[in-house]
Amino acid sequence: MGITSWIRTFPLMQYFIAWAQEIFMSVLRTGPVPQHVAFVMDGNRRFARRRKLEVKEGHSAGFESLARILEMCYQVGIKTVTVYAFSIENFKRPPVEVEALMEIARTKLLQIIHHGDLADRFGISIRVLGQRSLIPPDVLTAIDKSTEMTKDNTTAILNICFPYTSRDDIVTSMREIVSLSEDHKVDPDKIDENMIEQHMFTRDCPPLDILVRTSGVERLSDFMLWQSHQNCTVEFVDCLWPEFEPWRFGSILLKWSRQKAKEYRQIELEAEQKEL
Ligand code: FPP
Ligand code: MG
Repeated sequence: MGITSWIRTFPLMQYFIAWAQEIFMSVLRTGPVPQHVAFVMDGNRRFARRRKLEVKEGHSAGFESLARILEMCYQVGIKTVTVYAFSIENFKRPPVEVEALMEIARTKLLQIIHHGDLADRFGISIRVLGQRSLIPPDVLTAIDKSTEMTKDNTTAILNICFPYTSRDDIVTSMREIVSLSEDHKVDPDKIDENMIEQHMFTRDCPPLDILVRTSGVERLSDFMLWQSHQNCTVEFVDCLWPEFEPWRFGSILLKWSRQKAKEYRQIELEAEQKEL
């Protein structure tokens, strides 16, 4: 048991942690808050292996960690969260693991749309981004139910990338541009970044501010390649996703917020100097 998990077992400790977290979040809300944050939730299998658990238990622990982090995101005021829940490459994993991940997606999607659960409490619209054609029918039913039931929620967005890769996102966008054009012919001069972006899965989302990957691996693994090109802070965290505690994410937010506040002050200063 880790030190933080051990401390949590003390009576009243949960209340103290929740109180300290609430104060910390009030502080965060006073500064600039990112509008869009994405996560590569890496390290679930290593977490399972180290604790002699089954792989599917590692992924379930990963979902619990996601629920804690999402709660924090929406409490702080982050409008859009995008998570890498299943890469197209993950179909190459053992069938038993793929089935376990599909089952987690099916059951957890139905859980988070329950009255009083995450989507309801924070007014979250759930969107599933990726290749629908690769998803088994029972999981697709849960996806359609959760997206339909939450489509009118306007406070926040949860993008679940499933099954997704960035290169497929770009290819899908290009195919859509061609198929929507007259006679399937597009004037090459008319294709620009803006047009491609307008046909990507994240077309309605604000620009990506922070991309976090856990587990100490420093790669993007075909995730948010297009979306992270501009003004996006990439943070590689050296802890496994199920152990990614809200305070760790809080310190990333604090760092980002202080950096942005500095940039805004600089812009103001330059504007004042121009006026003089
Ligand atoms: C990467 O760790 C994690 C995944 C491939 C799956 C992540 C999925 C969840 C946390 C569940 C999310 C469910 C919903 C409905 C949003 P890994 O398996 O690559 O672990 P390793 O790096 O230790 O091998
Ligand atoms: Mg991994």
